[in-house]
Amino acid sequence: MVKNKYSVLLPTYNERENLPIIVWLLVKYFTEAEIDYEIIVIDDGSPDGTLEAGKQLEKIYGADKIVLRPREKKLGLGTAYIHGMKHATGNYIFIMDADLSHHPKFIPEFIKTQKEGNYDVVSGTRYSGDGGVNGWDLKRKIISRGANYVTQILLRPGASDLTGSFRLYKKEVLEKLVASCVSKGYVFQMEMVIRARQLGYTIGEVPISFVDRVYGESKLGGNEIIGFVKGLLYLFATT
Ligand code: GDD
Ligand code: MN
Repeated sequence: MVKNKYSVLLPTYNERENLPIIVWLLVKYFTEAEIDYEIIVIDDGSPDGTLEAGKQLEKIYGADKIVLRPREKKLGLGTAYIHGMKHATGNYIFIMDADLSHHPKFIPEFIKTQKEGNYDVVSGTRYSGDGGVNGWDLKRKIISRGANYVTQILLRPGASDLTGSFRLYKKEVLEKLVASCVSKGYVFQMEMVIRARQLGYTIGEVPISFVDRVYGESKLGGNEIIGFVKGLLYLFATT
């Protein structure tokens, strides 16, 4: 039997305070479950010194566990995943946020669900079962709900949370999906699910609670929202 290895892609931009905590939690959950893993940190030249924090963690946990794959400057979330994926040595890949909104405690649940259905993709969902959001203001809730709602109606994707980014992929599936995606920013998450359905991949779901970040700020701004709407319309017109 092939031994599974899980590569976690952590994109970071100004996550100096969060990175040590999420890494500590990831190490804890993987080690407790005796699961082979690596954590790939894709830092985009954060001015707050996130990369230096990463280097400390590399020393503590070892370069086989903490893999630093930085880029010079902020090139966007979508391409950060692609960059990280190219360096992944696992046969399964987790994608999650580094700001503790996605709690590593859900990792065993993702792995279990994936195995049960041999799913190509397992998507964390805030919008079904016990899933939910904590700490967002009304505006942010409306943006997220709205984006999901409109996309559900226009594209009928067969997954309940389209904009969430806590997901587990078979590596070869992620590679195929990435190759078929055109978007670069936050809309990337949504396009990934749409493409997955298009290409006939199976999607399992795990309810997650998303907790708003404690340290630092969200990078979601007006430009990302405009980018989302453009991406959505493009997909509606072409799929
Ligand atoms: N390398 C890199 N480059 N990382 C980035 C960039 C970038 O340009 N922009 C954001 N990140 C990192 C952040 O440091 C964090 O780890 C993660 O990507 C998510 O960024 P946030 O700024 O915390 O996103 P959010 O909380 O507003 O948005 C969340 O919800 C969205 C809507 O549901 C994320 O889960 C998004 O992926 C999701 O689409
Ligand atoms: Mn966040």
